[in-house]
Amino acid sequence: MIGRRVFVTRRIANPAFDILHGAGAEVRIGQSVEEEGLSRHALLDGVRWCDVLLPLLTEAIDREVLTANPRLLGVATCAVGFNHIDVTAATELGVPVSNTPGVLTDSTADLTWALILAVARRVPEAHAYMTAGRYRIWGPNLLLGADVSPGGSGQQKTLGIVGYGRIGAAVARRASGFDMRVIAHDPYNRDGIEAAPHVEWANLADLLADSDFVTLHPLLTPETHHLIGSAELRRMKPSAFLINVARGPVVDETTLVRALEEGWIAGAGLDVYEDEPAMAPGLASCPNAVLMPHIASATKDTRERMATMAASDAVRFLRGAPAENQVNPTVYGTAAYRQRVSS
Ligand code: GLV
Repeated sequence: MIGRRVFVTRRIANPAFDILHGAGAEVRIGQSVEEEGLSRHALLDGVRWCDVLLPLLTEAIDREVLTANPRLLGVATCAVGFNHIDVTAATELGVPVSNTPGVLTDSTADLTWALILAVARRVPEAHAYMTAGRYRIWGPNLLLGADVSPGGSGQQKTLGIVGYGRIGAAVARRASGFDMRVIAHDPYNRDGIEAAPHVEWANLADLLADSDFVTLHPLLTPETHHLIGSAELRRMKPSAFLINVARGPVVDETTLVRALEEGWIAGAGLDVYEDEPAMAPGLASCPNAVLMPHIASATKDTRERMATMAASDAVRFLRGAPAENQVNPTVYGTAAYRQRVSS
């Protein structure tokens, strides 16, 4: 091993520590208190101490962090999304980055569907109605929602998937059980969409106009920041629902609140927010919004597997070896990387 110390920013699932200790690593946890974040000061302290950093998506791993320790051998994030890391700076500085792709695909697709069903069938409102003791008599007009399957109208519903990677494709597969027409848009994966059985390619404008349910799965990049804003929300049908399980800033949240309040669309299911954990003013009081605290990958098995994947790549970094799940593979050919692993 060329390094020994791993700084895990917050407590993750136990099997990760078995892997790290089993490899002979010295481990420090920055924040062990659940639901407490790590201060910037503690993050920088930990980075200076360690050889490998194992952060969560709650920490901004920016240029300041990456330059705080010229001996840093790698950043193994315990997340599939890596917009919290300045990957350009990491590559330039010779710091390899890894993530946890694939393992959370099913859990995230399942939660997408939970949001589709919950918002269309008003599940949280119905639950609140029951727990408030308001159910006095069955009623023909009580809590009327929208069909996801053809349902009463007999008309097939359209699911529009924006971002057709692993998760988008898994969401599409689940739609067959609801007898839906599935259309998808992804500027980088038109071939993947066209090769998928029962999925049609659509440009974004047509997808928004045609869909009864729009689900969002792109990576957050400068290109996808506010991909869904006023013009896009106004293009959607007033009866349609928007689901975001990607990253908050993909949607202009302030405008979404207006769209929900004024009925531009019928409802939204959100797992992510523009300025997490804060929500845009008014969002929490929209009855047609179903809100979750960024839990798409939060099943016991998935979180354990994510933690072990991140720990395994952290061990590879300690050994000066490339990650299995590489975010910036070009880093390995750089002089800056070679210098890190040889010094
Ligand atoms: C969750 O949002 C993740 O990126 O892992």
